[in-house]
Amino acid sequence: MECGRRGTLYWRAHSGVPALAMLLIALMLGVWVTQALEMSVGKVPFLVAVNGSTVLLPCTYASCIGIKNLYFRWQYNDNGTMYTLCDSVIPEDGVDPQVTIWRERVEFVGKKNNVSILLWNITFEDAGQYTCYGRNPKEKGRNHSAIFTLEVVDELKVVDNTLTVIIASAVGGVIGLFVTFMLLKNLTLFIISKIEEKNKECLVSSSGIDNTENGLSGSKADSKPTPKKA
Ligand SMILES: *[C@@H]1O[C@H](CO)[C@@H](O)[C@H](O)[C@H]1NC(C)=O
Ligand SMILES: *[C@@H]1O[C@H](CO)[C@@H](O)[C@H](O)[C@H]1NC(C)=O
Ligand SMILES: *[C@@H]1O[C@H](CO)[C@@H](O)[C@H](O)[C@H]1NC(C)=O
Ligand SMILES: *[C@@H]1O[C@H](CO)[C@@H](O)[C@H](O)[C@H]1NC(C)=O
Ligand SMILES: *[C@@H]1O[C@H](CO)[C@@H](O)[C@H](O)[C@H]1NC(C)=O
Repeated sequence: MECGRRGTLYWRAHSGVPALAMLLIALMLGVWVTQALEMSVGKVPFLVAVNGSTVLLPCTYASCIGIKNLYFRWQYNDNGTMYTLCDSVIPEDGVDPQVTIWRERVEFVGKKNNVSILLWNITFEDAGQYTCYGRNPKEKGRNHSAIFTLEVVDELKVVDNTLTVIIASAVGGVIGLFVTFMLLKNLTLFIISKIEEKNKECLVSSSGIDNTENGLSGSKADSKPTPKKA
């Protein structure tokens, strides 16, 4: 599962550190892996939605050693007071949860390790923090929770991305300029090298002439490195 992969990443990131540190990291990893139950509300733990719409509150659970009678609960934090929206006990991995709903407009739409819910016809009062909580007795009752934030707005504002466009084109322009510059530079260098090559050839031929016609400059030409192509 994920745990193993992350472990490897961590390990790799620290390769090159002395053996003792490695051992310590391994021990820490060991401790970390046993704390494996993880509730996740995804990479973007918030949502901005229009009043009256229906929203998905995402949550999944994961455990390295598997679950047994995992208890999970969705709760809403209403200014410090926690309201349970729904809860369930999942007997084992891969079993679809049988969920008890405690609040209206809540619908369970999860499957297997997905314990997401739908919140129907949201109002402004629904805005706030939703916690997806889980406790796995198989892991000595370890618990974990993740918070999803819902923001309710009148209407979705069209994001003014003029600035983004400006920045993007500016960056693009700079990159373009840079590329052009590099191309020009390379072209110039190429031309210069060609010219130099020509000049060297001229030098060689002239020095050749010098060699035969003028002893002094001929010896000078001899001390110069022999020009070579490429
Ligand atoms: C959302 O709220 C506004 C202002 O309170 C109201 O006029 C509008 O009808 C509401 N929209 C829905 C879909 O309930
Ligand atoms: C939250 O509770 C505090 C103290 O109980 C109160 O002052 C505040 O107005 C409440 N906020 C909302 C949005 O209900
Ligand atoms: C949501 O609103 C629609 C239209 O107002 C209504 O038909 C539907 O029953 C509502 N759903 C829930 C779960 O309240
Ligand atoms: C969980 O289930 C919901 C509803 O079926 C779906 O929209 C969502 O993408 C699922 N999430 C994951 C992480 O699979
Ligand atoms: C979660 O576990 C910690 C110890 O790991 C415990 O202190 C806490 O009370 C637990 N929370 C719940 C809600 O059971």
